[in-house]
Amino acid sequence: MSKPKILGKILYDYDDIQKRAKELAAQIDKDYEGEDLILLCTLKGSVLWFADILKYMEHDCRIDFISASSYGSATSTSGVVKINFDPNINMYNAHVLVIEDIVDSGITLKYVMDKLAERGPKSVKVCTMLNKEARRTADFHADYVGFEIDDLFIIGYGLDYDQRLRGLPYISYLEEDDVESL
Ligand code: PRP
Repeated sequence: MSKPKILGKILYDYDDIQKRAKELAAQIDKDYEGEDLILLCTLKGSVLWFADILKYMEHDCRIDFISASSYGSATSTSGVVKINFDPNINMYNAHVLVIEDIVDSGITLKYVMDKLAERGPKSVKVCTMLNKEARRTADFHADYVGFEIDDLFIIGYGLDYDQRLRGLPYISYLEEDDVESL
């Protein structure tokens, strides 16, 4: 099965995403200059955005990966979060920057941030590609935001539809007729 060339309505194309990743990477470089920094990629949706931020940063940071999921339906969370894969990197006295694909209710990241804070880092912050502020229920604030988005069903550039379409090189959203064609 091959990837559809264009699916849904495109919000940000590849060039838009690269431009924004470069801007944020430069800001992160400035903010963490001379500091011990760990970039933590949240699996799986963040892999492409994580790679962009990492490749555009001048800072030679350490990296690791974490996987967490919140239980619920396909489109909303129940609020119960489970860590599926825990990074074993030593975070003590280091700055940790979590690289996320999307913050929706904020429940997953709030839980993850609290867990990471127990490991003695100097700071824990978040850089998310997409921020869906309209859906926020948890007391959570993203420190670096690629794009603010409305409450849409987003796919591509790491974000999936039933575990597919993560490799689309753009961010788009699906409407009912798009979903029927899948
Ligand atoms: C997505 C996303 C966040 C979370 C956001 O992950 O990567 O971790 O949902 O939702 P919340 O703000 O309502 O908690 P998902 O569970 O879809 O896993 P994936 O990255 O493997 O697709």
